[in-house]
Amino acid sequence: MKKIGILTSGGDAPGMNAAIRAVTRTAISKGLEVVGVRRGYAGLIAGELFEMNARSVSNILQDGGTMLYSARSKEFCTEEGMQKAIKTCRDNGIEGLVVIGGDGSFRGAADLSARGIPCIALPGTIDNDITSTDYTIGFDTCVNCVTEMVDRIRDTMRSHDRCSVVEVMGRHAGYVALHAGIATGATYIMVPEVDSSVQDAIKKIESGRALGKSSFIIIVAEGVGHAEKLSEQIQEATGIVTRATILGHVQRGGSPTSRDRILASTMGSYAVDLLVEGKSNRVVGIHKEKIVDHDIQEALAMKKEFPMDLYKICNDISI
Ligand code: F6P
Repeated sequence: MKKIGILTSGGDAPGMNAAIRAVTRTAISKGLEVVGVRRGYAGLIAGELFEMNARSVSNILQDGGTMLYSARSKEFCTEEGMQKAIKTCRDNGIEGLVVIGGDGSFRGAADLSARGIPCIALPGTIDNDITSTDYTIGFDTCVNCVTEMVDRIRDTMRSHDRCSVVEVMGRHAGYVALHAGIATGATYIMVPEVDSSVQDAIKKIESGRALGKSSFIIIVAEGVGHAEKLSEQIQEATGIVTRATILGHVQRGGSPTSRDRILASTMGSYAVDLLVEGKSNRVVGIHKEKIVDHDIQEALAMKKEFPMDLYKICNDISI
């Protein structure tokens, strides 16, 4: 293998730049040429390529977002689009590709691998909803951001004896809500993986109030949603002034934590090792602090168990 490409796809995540840097520099140190692909699979179809060298990735380790830009491509989901992407690879001598993104991006990587372009995928998403890894690149930064935001909200809720319903991202998953809920001592968390109702939240608020609590934080995952409506229902049932905050894209930006930088750097380097070893159709992950890799289709078919022990702890210690 003489030349590899790298792209980021789907929603961006803090730490993607650290992964791009690691892939680029590991490849260069192994004597490979590196091509950056802008705007994900759409850019691969359109031939948005540029040569990268060790300096192309200087001073990006600490930056959020992705220097390669990201996109979601409908055209790439068609056979015609896929063939255009393959042609770009062949015309430009790209013999392997590192794809950083979520599970939608992995499907694309699997399809390209099946058509003779070896791909290695890295899990880059704030949602942590990838089954084949304990943690995704960007999740830790996102949870830290949510923690800081909720701490700030708590300051003002406490001053006014209020309740706050904070809606956080996560797509269909509740990992951001769960981890931020524990980190901020939320009164109650609502996630799509666990049946819960506004009545349960109200009960928790009332039992806390009986024990002397006077301000409350409810964290709701976007997969459950309806922060405004939940606020109204809570205020009506409890008489406590309740405000809704939807944190939105602030959670997806910002400088990656050291944990995300380290995860992204080790995964990026490992991805190049796999390509050089002649591997294809693999997705990199971390399991019990060790870097691992799986067949992409097998990884996509795995089921992620929601950590009910953590969920229970969160509720048990927020009385
Ligand atoms: O997958 C990352 C994510 O931020 C999800 O948490 C969220 O549901 C979605 O992307 C938002 O997508 P967009 O940036 O296209 O609005």
